[in-house]
Amino acid sequence: MQVILQPTAERAVNLVAHIIAESIKRKPHLVLGLATGRTMVPLYQRLVSMHREEGLDFSLVVTFNLDEYIGLPPSHPGSYHYFMYNHLFNHINIDKRNIHIPNGMAEDIRKECKLYEEKIRDFGGIDLQILSIGESGHIGFNEPLSSMFSRTREKALSPITIEQNKHLFPNPEEMPKRAITMGVGTILEADQCVVLVTGKHKGEILAKAVEGPITAMVSATALQLHPNCVVVADEEAGCKLTQKEYYRWIFENEPEWEVYRGKI
Ligand code: GLP
Repeated sequence: MQVILQPTAERAVNLVAHIIAESIKRKPHLVLGLATGRTMVPLYQRLVSMHREEGLDFSLVVTFNLDEYIGLPPSHPGSYHYFMYNHLFNHINIDKRNIHIPNGMAEDIRKECKLYEEKIRDFGGIDLQILSIGESGHIGFNEPLSSMFSRTREKALSPITIEQNKHLFPNPEEMPKRAITMGVGTILEADQCVVLVTGKHKGEILAKAVEGPITAMVSATALQLHPNCVVVADEEAGCKLTQKEYYRWIFENEPEWEVYRGKI
C-alpha cells in the first residue's frame, strides 16, 4: 500500500483524476470500477472537465459500479444509477452499453449478483478500481463482518451507514436498508485499487484502514493485502495517521512515484 497525502482535497481529487486519465490513455478499453458518495462528486466533476476541455475519451471505457440499493428504480434520486448518470455518465462520451451497475430491482437478487460477477470476468476483470471509505469502514457496501473472500451479494446496511447516507435522500425514511455490493474478494481482484479519502470526519476510519490490524470489522483494512493499492488523502483525512512523515518521505524519494509527483 502507498499513502499519498495532499495539502487540500482539491489536489487529492486532481491526482486521482490524473491517475484515471493516464490509465485510459494507456488502455482505451480500460475496465474501470467506480464508487459513489460525496467524495466522488468533485472527482467526477474533474473527469467531466477533462473530457470537455482536454478531450479525455471514454468511448471505449467499460465501467462497473461497486454497489446499488435494493428496491430503488434507476429514476429514484437516491439510487446509485441516478447518481452516476447525474454526476458522470450524462456528461461524457461513454457508450451506455459499457456501463454496469447492479440492478437493485432484480426479481432474483442472487442471480443478479452471480451474473454481475460473470460480467466482470467476461471483460477480463477490473483494471482500476476507484474506492472511498465509508464511516463504518466499508468499501462498496461491505459492512462490518464482511468476509475477505466475499463476492457480489446482498448485504444489510449498518446503522452507521444508514445514518451517514440517509440525508442524501429527499425523504430520509425512504433509504433502503439493504444493498447489492461487490464483495471484498471481488474488489481485491482488481489490478489496481485507488482510494480517495477527504475531510477531517474520515480521519479515524482512514487511520484504522491503513494502520490498524486487518479485520472483517473494517472492510477497508483488506486493502492492506492488495499488491497495488494507492491511498490518496488530503491532510485533514490524514490527521490521525501516525506514520505521516514516513509516507511523505517515500513519496518524495522513491523513483517509482515520480509519475504521481508530476501530476500534482
Ligand atoms: C457509500 C458507498 C461507498 C462510498 C462510501 C463513502 O455509502 N457505498 O462506496 O465509498 O459510502 O461515502 P462518502 O463519500 O459520502 O463519505
